[in-house]
Amino acid sequence: MKPGLLITLEGTEGVGKSTNLQFIRDTLSEQKIPFICTREPGGTPLAETLRELLLAPRDEPFDPLAELLIMFAARAQHIAHVIRPALERGLWVICDRFTDATFAYQGGGRGVPMNIIAQLEALVQRELRPDAVILLDISPQLGLERAGQRAAPDRFERERCEFFERVRSVYLERADADPARYYRVDASRPLVDVQQELKDILARIRARHEGEEAIG
Ligand code: TMP
Repeated sequence: MKPGLLITLEGTEGVGKSTNLQFIRDTLSEQKIPFICTREPGGTPLAETLRELLLAPRDEPFDPLAELLIMFAARAQHIAHVIRPALERGLWVICDRFTDATFAYQGGGRGVPMNIIAQLEALVQRELRPDAVILLDISPQLGLERAGQRAAPDRFERERCEFFERVRSVYLERADADPARYYRVDASRPLVDVQQELKDILARIRARHEGEEAIG
């Protein structure tokens, strides 16, 4: 069987990821494309426990390397138990964040050297990379305004605007460097326009996948 597709959704705070993820699920269901939807950090019971560790605000400063290693520990578990099995069954895997978030948040945000992240990516994922990355892009200023004041912000949501500027610039650099795989969507526009573009992107990804199937 032809393996499925790994499609990841990325962006900074307040970009509308949850609403647009629901739209993607509805679109794939309408089109009868078999898929699963999952998220990182998380996606298995053990990885969700690691997520709680990562997101809980705490007094003890979190060492950036410790944070990075726990992200990849959760990812290893998620890939082994959810992502690879689903891809092998031919499903599309829609993942709310993946390793681009690590380059952006731990690399850009926290300043961990990118080559360390790349080494862990190679170790944990081997050849596995997203087939397509949908980057919902918004200025952090506008994103934070839109997100508003969360009742109980997690450890990342407590960061300042400058942190999210650095996160965003890594996302944009990565998108610019690989335009065949990254779809950058201007999420500052009205939701109907964003969702029309998402629909077009999904159609392009599908056409490409079916084209590869015909050749392959
Ligand atoms: P979420 O709020 O989109 O569910 O994601 C949880 C937080 O985890 C978000 O603030 C970004 C952060 N994160 C990283 O810092 N590195 C990663 O590799 C991933 C997957 C998420």
